[in-house]
Amino acid sequence: MSKAFQDRIIMVTGASDGIGQHVAAALGEAGASVIAIGRNEDGLQQTMERIEELGGRCLCVPFDLTDFDNYGKLFLSLKDQIPHLDGLVHCAASIDRCAPMQYIKQDVFRESLDINLTAPNMLTQMMLPLLRRADAASVVFTTCDMVDEDQNNWHAYGMAKRALAYAAAMWQNEHEEKPYRFNALNPGLVRTALFKRTFGGMHPNEVPAATTVVPAYLYLLSDDSKEIRGQSLHAKDLIKE
Ligand SMILES: NC(=O)c1ccc[n+]([C@@H]2O[C@H](COP(=O)([O-])OP(=O)(O)OC[C@H]3O[C@@H](n4cnc5c(N)ncnc54)[C@H](OP(=O)(O)O)[C@@H]3O)[C@@H](O)[C@H]2O)c1
Repeated sequence: MSKAFQDRIIMVTGASDGIGQHVAAALGEAGASVIAIGRNEDGLQQTMERIEELGGRCLCVPFDLTDFDNYGKLFLSLKDQIPHLDGLVHCAASIDRCAPMQYIKQDVFRESLDINLTAPNMLTQMMLPLLRRADAASVVFTTCDMVDEDQNNWHAYGMAKRALAYAAAMWQNEHEEKPYRFNALNPGLVRTALFKRTFGGMHPNEVPAATTVVPAYLYLLSDDSKEIRGQSLHAKDLIKE
């Protein structure tokens, strides 16, 4: 693989599993130094080992992204270790099960908004000083089909994901003249733990592997997409056959 991301430092949330783990590994293979965020230390360790096997570098940061009181500490520990951030990929998300909104308890609703909406926005805010120090950083918010489809039963998760598409546009409008950019990416259905929890009726073999959407993330993080700013995109439209 080419070392297109040589000397780039890129943070990936949800890097302990699923899409985030594959994006982190591909970035490491392409020469990036990856900051891998997640709670599960075994998962993060696995990510680090894969990246090192591929010749890359990875710093594992076990961190609960709903622990908002400790975002300041996270920033302070990173700012002494890295000069800048060239990319921030928000893959972390959570939904235990789909259910009609009328049955969703308040604590479940609020917890879902915390990880799926508040965390990506607050982490972006917290990392902005490091993103500003890069030549042209790229921030990618991960959305889902609910950005443009009114599907039932996705409650706070679906609402949060639709709001992330707006967040990307808003962040960009508020930094119109800046070299850094913000976009939202819908990977579409892929085979991960989250998929297995929520698409009970579908056989996993009916959907593509998580690796298939990795090129779309890499494209949005690369200089090739530097004109794409404040957009909400679907992976299938970015992946060349
Ligand atoms: N799979 C699909 O079909 C599909 C479709 C559309 C959109 N997406 C989106 O794609 C992204 C990746 O999803 P996935 O399918 O790869 O899910 P996944 O396999 O379940 O991975 C989710 C990741 O989020 C992390 N995470 C969850 N809660 C966290 C918290 N409180 N703090 C830190 N990390 C947390 C998990 O790590 P820990 O457990 O280690 O914390 C894990 O690494 C998500 O944004 C999802 O909404 C997926």
